[in-house]
Amino acid sequence: MLRFNRCTLEARVVDITELAVDAIVNAANTSLLGGGGVDGAIHRAAGKELIRECETLGGCATGDAKLTRGYRLPARYVIHAVGPRWRGGGHGEADLLASCYQRSLEVAREAQCTSIAFPAISCGIYHFPADEAVRIALGTVLATLPRTPQIEQVVFACFDDAMFARYEAELMRRQAPPSKPV
Ligand code: AR6
Repeated sequence: MLRFNRCTLEARVVDITELAVDAIVNAANTSLLGGGGVDGAIHRAAGKELIRECETLGGCATGDAKLTRGYRLPARYVIHAVGPRWRGGGHGEADLLASCYQRSLEVAREAQCTSIAFPAISCGIYHFPADEAVRIALGTVLATLPRTPQIEQVVFACFDDAMFARYEAELMRRQAPPSKPV
């Protein structure tokens, strides 16, 4: 766990659909009309009303995020973020992934959320290299939090132990005091 001003950041091995936070983030696609992975799990758990609301949103650009209600989920809202598909790294993938985390926090702020949970966006079907994705996720969240001071809790929901270990290592690395110059 890492503290940043009033906010705690932590990684957990958990199914994101079970988290009773203000908003869970979905790793969606540009259609916002559902899919596999965490997207499929969120739609199954939220129920049919979620797809109906998504149909009214007109899709979402890669790197952007849009808000819906959470319906049958314990979370009040779902923030649908569209991560980049990994195409070798030379197609702006890192910036687009960072934009997902930044935009999700901005959307959460607009909806007056104080707690938010992220999956490892783009790390499944979209094949973004996980170590780099975790660095981007934490770095972008920490860089954005000063502008979203009402966010008090950020959970990185990991589907497996390997992803959890990556987030734990990155949280520890950022917690360590800078080494003194020799
Ligand atoms: N809770 C937390 N994490 C999960 C869950 C869950 N219930 N289910 C999977 N993950 P992915 P992407 C993890 O493939 O790579 C969809 O079809 C998973 O282990 O869900 O951004 C969309 O519609 C991985 O670490 O999303 C898009 O077309 C992470 O969530 C496309 O997949 C993200 O994996 C998006 O691909």
